[in-house]
Amino acid sequence: MAYDKVLIFDTTLRDGEQAAGAAMTTPEKLEIARQLERLGVDIIEAGFPISSPGDFEAVRTIAKEVRKPIITALAHANAAAVDRAWEAIKEARHPRIHVFLSSSDIHILHQLRKDREEVMGMAVSNVRRAKGYCPDVEFSPMDATRTDPQYLYAMLKAVIEEGATTLNIPDTVGYTTADEFTRLIQGIKANVPGIDKVTLSVHCHNDLGMAVANTLAAVKAGARQVEGCINGVGERAGNAALEEVIMSLKTRRDYFQVDMNVDTTQIYRASKLVSDITGFSVQPNKAVTGGNAFRHASGIHQDGLLKDRTTYEIMDPQSIGWPSSELVLGKLSGRHGLKARLNELGYQPSDPELNRLFEAFKELADKKREVTDRDLEALMSNQRRSFAETYVLDHVQVSCGNHEVPTATVRLVGPDGVAKTDAATGTGPVDAVYRAINRIVSVPNKLTEFSVRSVTEGIDAVGEVSIRIESEGNVSSAAEKATTP
Ligand code: KIV
Ligand code: ZN
Repeated sequence: MAYDKVLIFDTTLRDGEQAAGAAMTTPEKLEIARQLERLGVDIIEAGFPISSPGDFEAVRTIAKEVRKPIITALAHANAAAVDRAWEAIKEARHPRIHVFLSSSDIHILHQLRKDREEVMGMAVSNVRRAKGYCPDVEFSPMDATRTDPQYLYAMLKAVIEEGATTLNIPDTVGYTTADEFTRLIQGIKANVPGIDKVTLSVHCHNDLGMAVANTLAAVKAGARQVEGCINGVGERAGNAALEEVIMSLKTRRDYFQVDMNVDTTQIYRASKLVSDITGFSVQPNKAVTGGNAFRHASGIHQDGLLKDRTTYEIMDPQSIGWPSSELVLGKLSGRHGLKARLNELGYQPSDPELNRLFEAFKELADKKREVTDRDLEALMSNQRRSFAETYVLDHVQVSCGNHEVPTATVRLVGPDGVAKTDAATGTGPVDAVYRAINRIVSVPNKLTEFSVRSVTEGIDAVGEVSIRIESEGNVSSAAEKATTP
């Protein structure tokens, strides 16, 4: 039996990018947008064009290149922002303008410094302006969950009359609870004339860890579009993790009684890609995509699984595209074998990429002998994040021990081809290396995160190092994978 469709709205490229340190380049955004298209999301929020020329360009590129989903651009409720949003998405096959404006008294008085009447006028005139460009217009009353419900109903009614086609209810500060949000959605459905003619959407933040639960409660109460980000990235504590919402709706279809257009087997790759590009690793115990999500450690559980997987597994790992850890390629495998397996995993490397991958694969196969799908995923991740190298790390030597001061010597070759060597001591070997690099590069910065984790299993596992650096207010992150020596 078919149920109502819930539309999946991905805002990884807009709200997700607002996370401190998650800035992405246009080619990276395009790569994510293409994966979101494969995942089958209905709407991609590609960015906020008025916020910067770079964002404008990224939205325009995605609008031109990614043709299946609706491509939306965010705009403040002012004429310049709406015009800029339209300019960026007008070549999309399915364009949407998303206008937002604060509706809570806290925001109206303290942030906008206006009154309710004036704000109502701004909502109406800018939805009207957006509608003049584009038939598909979404409106979000920001901070809706802390807004006087009567004022919220009036604002929603007014923008429906101006032609808004989707009304999105954001829990902007992650303040609401599942019960309270259910009542708000029910209240909107009961009190806003014309609400049954438009799509009711929700957008939940995760400040109290309730974004996914609140989103699901809203679906149960009748919302038919859900907004979120892959891996739950986003402003502050992030947005609802879209893969968790999707798998909840799918796994508990009996309870939620809704259907979606997504291909869930693309979830793992989407998660990997976003993590590789943003440099935000996925915590091992995270629902659906964490490294331990399908690992069963207890003997009782393992026993049950061997008898019947459904004893302890409510989702099939393959249903999210989890790569197998069975041996797939070895030392003697050739370029064709590698290419064929990568294609089976859904990757289409170009010839130069394949050449680089093949070299890295041979190096890995020499060390590991057996190369699994997860190893191939790790190789692909390295490939994705390619930087224009300013300095090349030519040599590094560290000495440390339980009675020694960690000391590193580093040689870097600069953009002018000149090699420079320096040495430093540190609180540990890694600190010593970074200090030596800093002495050569001379750019003031602070290392705010350094983590090492194992990506595959065993003594010859592939490990991943992620770092985050802050320099003059800019946050940069990177991740690199390599086999452990
Ligand atoms: O959280 C929020 O209120 C938003 C809006 C722009 C929809 O991101
Ligand atoms: Zn948001």
